[in-house]
Amino acid sequence: MTNRIRPFLKWAGGKFKLSHWISQHLPLGSRLIEPFVGAGAIFLNSSFDHYLLSDCNPDLINLYECLQKEGVPFIDFCQSFFTVANNTVKRYYHLRQRFNCSTDLHEKAALFLYLNRHCFNGLCRYNNKGHFNVPMGEYTRPYFPYNEMHAFHEKAQRAIFSCEDFTSIMRKACAEDVIYCDPPYYPLSNSASFTRYHLSDFTLDKQIVLADLCTELQQKGMRIIVSNHAIPETRRLYKQAKKLVFCDVQRTISATGHQRATVKELLALYL
Ligand SMILES: C[S@@+](CC[C@H](N)C(=O)[O-])C[C@H]1O[C@@H](n2cnc3c(N)ncnc32)[C@H](O)[C@@H]1O
Repeated sequence: MTNRIRPFLKWAGGKFKLSHWISQHLPLGSRLIEPFVGAGAIFLNSSFDHYLLSDCNPDLINLYECLQKEGVPFIDFCQSFFTVANNTVKRYYHLRQRFNCSTDLHEKAALFLYLNRHCFNGLCRYNNKGHFNVPMGEYTRPYFPYNEMHAFHEKAQRAIFSCEDFTSIMRKACAEDVIYCDPPYYPLSNSASFTRYHLSDFTLDKQIVLADLCTELQQKGMRIIVSNHAIPETRRLYKQAKKLVFCDVQRTISATGHQRATVKELLALYL
C-alpha cells in the first residue's frame, strides 16, 4: 500500500507493517480510541475525525504532547541532539543520565527521542527506580525522523493524548466510539516474551481483564478490535468476540531462549 505514514519512534510490537490489514477491519465512527497507542501506527494510518490516544508510558505521552503543541521548533530542538559528537559512548550515558534526572518536560521529551534512536534496538526499558536503562546501540549515523515527526504533528491536531491505564481510558468510551486495543502480546513462554513496556508487567491477569472489559463494553454498544498472537490461548481468551480474523503473514519471533517460532497475527472483533 502506498502513502502510509511511518511512526517516528522505534517501538516493540509496532503495527506499521500490519496497519493496512488492521485499518481495513476498523468500523466507521467519528472517534478512534487507542488505549495502547505505542508508536501510533494505526492512529497515523486510519481516517477518523477525532482520536483519544493513551498509553501507560508517561515519557511517550509527554513527547507526543510537546510535538503536538510546538511542531517545527520542537522538531528542530530534538534534531539538535542528533550530532556526531553525541553519538559516542560517553555522551550517550551522559545524556541518558540527564534524561533520568531531568524535571524539564521539554528537554525530557527530546532526550526520549534521542535515546529511542541511539539505544540498543530502540528498546524502552526502565529499572525498578523508573530509570531508563537500555545500553547504547551501535549505529554509525542514527536516523533523524524529521518528515515522520512533521506528519505526526499535523495529524495530532485531531488527537487528545492521555497517560492512563487501559481500563480507565476504555471506560471513557461512548457508544459511537471505535476502540483499537494493541496490548503487549500474550506471552509465548514464561521466559521469552517481552511484556514490560514501563514499570509493571502486562500479566496474564491483565490479558483476562482486557478481554472481559471488551465483552462488557461490547454489550453496551461499543465496537472494539483487539490484536494479539494467533495461538490457542488467545482463541480461548477472546471466545466472546463476534469474530476472529487471522493475518496470512507469519512473523518470526523469539520463543524460548534461542529458539525462533513463526506466529500468525489475530484480530478479535467485538462488533
Ligand atoms: C504492542 S505496543 C503498541 C504498539 C502500537 N500499536 C504501535 O503500532 O506502535 C503495547 C503498548 O501498550 C502499553 N501498555 C502496557 N501496559 C499498559 C497498560 N496497563 N495500560 C496502558 N498501556 C499499556 C505499552 O507502553 C506499549 O506502548
